[in-house]
Amino acid sequence: MLAEIDRTRLPRHVAAIMDGNGRWAAARGLTRIEGHAAGVESVRDTVEGAARLGLGALTVFAFSSENWRRPPGEVAALLELVGRYLRQETDNLVANDIRFRAIGRLGELPTDLQAGLGRTTEATKACRGLTLSVAVNYGSRAEIVDAVRRIAARAAREGKAPELDERRFGEYLTTSGLPDPDLLIRTSGEMRVSNFLLFQSAHTEFWTTLTLWPDFRQRDLYEAILAYQRRGRRSGGPG
Ligand code: FPP
Repeated sequence: MLAEIDRTRLPRHVAAIMDGNGRWAAARGLTRIEGHAAGVESVRDTVEGAARLGLGALTVFAFSSENWRRPPGEVAALLELVGRYLRQETDNLVANDIRFRAIGRLGELPTDLQAGLGRTTEATKACRGLTLSVAVNYGSRAEIVDAVRRIAARAAREGKAPELDERRFGEYLTTSGLPDPDLLIRTSGEMRVSNFLLFQSAHTEFWTTLTLWPDFRQRDLYEAILAYQRRGRRSGGPG
């Protein structure tokens, strides 16, 4: 399938809402936490596949600002899985020239996780291949509100509002510097946007699959990209 992909027309940025860990676990008589742990394998494989293909940017939704409402044990396990991923994968990310960044309200996370996110970001900052962004404690409306607050604070500091247009506004978002996602993948058959990259996905193509996230592999990523390449991108302009 890799051979069928036109490398000259890759989406510049692919985003993924990783859904279905709980259902995957329930179908096997496992705990939800075991489902999330299986989902980490899918993250590893998908990141490897994205780097192998030569994608510029991949952003995955690991923990939403709404996820705090889950049972405390599940919240702790999810955050611990992110921390463990960082400890286990940082060397691999560097070896594969993958630059890591975290997006979300990171200051509200446990301090050891904040430190881990900071270490991996620092260790990979010179990497120039794939940019892997992991959204942790991320909610798009909060991100937009935070951006407006920073703009207001700057206006108060400088005595005048900064010049703004859509591009400049994007520089106040946590995805600053990344192209908008061309393709958003959501697994498990769900069709919602779930407060993910709302400003950034104005022209994004959506692709959903019934596959549950723990079953998602590189071949599914490639299938999504092939489907994307078969669609005509119009962005509201003429056909
Ligand atoms: C949705 O499944 C998935 C999540 C809330 C968490 C996704 C997190 C991971 C895959 C692991 C950590 C990530 C990294 C980057 C190491 P769900 O629990 O809502 O599933 P359900 O809809 O079937 O109940």
